[in-house]
Amino acid sequence: MSFNVYVTRQIPEEGINLLKKFCQMVEVNPHDRPLTYDELLMQVKGRDAILTMLSDRVDAHFISEVKSIKVIANYAVGYENIDIKTATAKGIIVTNTPGVLTESTADMAWALLFSITRRIVEGDKLTRAGKFTGWSPMMLLGGDVVGKTLGIIGAGRIGTAMAMRSRGWCMKVLYTTQSNRNTVLEEMLGAKRVDLETLLTESDFISIHTPLTEKTRHLIGAKEFSMMKKTVYLINTGRGAVVNEEALLNALKNKQIAGAGLDVYEEEPKLKPGLAELDNVVLAPHLGSATIETRTKMAIMAAENIIAVLNKQKPKNCVNPEVLT
Ligand code: GLV
Ligand code: GLV
Repeated sequence: MSFNVYVTRQIPEEGINLLKKFCQMVEVNPHDRPLTYDELLMQVKGRDAILTMLSDRVDAHFISEVKSIKVIANYAVGYENIDIKTATAKGIIVTNTPGVLTESTADMAWALLFSITRRIVEGDKLTRAGKFTGWSPMMLLGGDVVGKTLGIIGAGRIGTAMAMRSRGWCMKVLYTTQSNRNTVLEEMLGAKRVDLETLLTESDFISIHTPLTEKTRHLIGAKEFSMMKKTVYLINTGRGAVVNEEALLNALKNKQIAGAGLDVYEEEPKLKPGLAELDNVVLAPHLGSATIETRTKMAIMAAENIIAVLNKQKPKNCVNPEVLT
């Protein structure tokens, strides 16, 4: 059998090498940019599999145009860039990369939490600008973390890993989840499952880890910001559109909340005009899974998912298992 695979961006070579071992033709987008929708459509015609990024829009029209594809392996845990319904209806298997990026993304949430709370980025700018003229009793005062209340919105794998790290700072943990009670958090941390309103009103730090679905789009908007403490810090390493970015911009501008640490944006990579001018927000360019170790594991995982499907085996990380039955 001769398999033909297209990879939409350069990824760690371990994944590419694995694909090359099992597939006769493996082509990788040579550019240091995503292909446009039409470019990608041209490239995937006649292929058996594509390895996609979260920045590739694989919508109903796209899927209806690709006749030969058997598997779409998304190089991400989230897969809202893919129209799963249409893929399922067409018998195309979709896979993702859960688990391997849990720890690195939880680390990123903490990196942002400390960056914003201790004003690291503002301090770095000041120092580089030659404005550090000596220790000063009132310079760049931030907030304490120890003993505060951490609210986890979406206590799945990543939310749990984020919360587990709070043991080091003896925090009280509240969480919401769309699935079952999180017994790990409850038993290990004494965490409490609460409704969203309680979480919003009682937390000193709020960290978002819910996937983006029609239910969670704009979960946090003007009304929700108005319920939060004025001293709260919001951390988002999940998906930008879970937060209404316009409402967030207003909350930051009006000092309705203390600050935000963001890794994701509503219309990535575009920012809401005005966001970048604010000092009470730290802006990272979607780096949640961006460690060498994690990206290598993601590459291998996505490649293994493709190889399994092409060999008519069950892939480990199928998001639409209905197709398999
Ligand atoms: C990253 O955002 C992912 O979904 O893997
Ligand atoms: C993703 O891995 C999650 O369930 O949080």
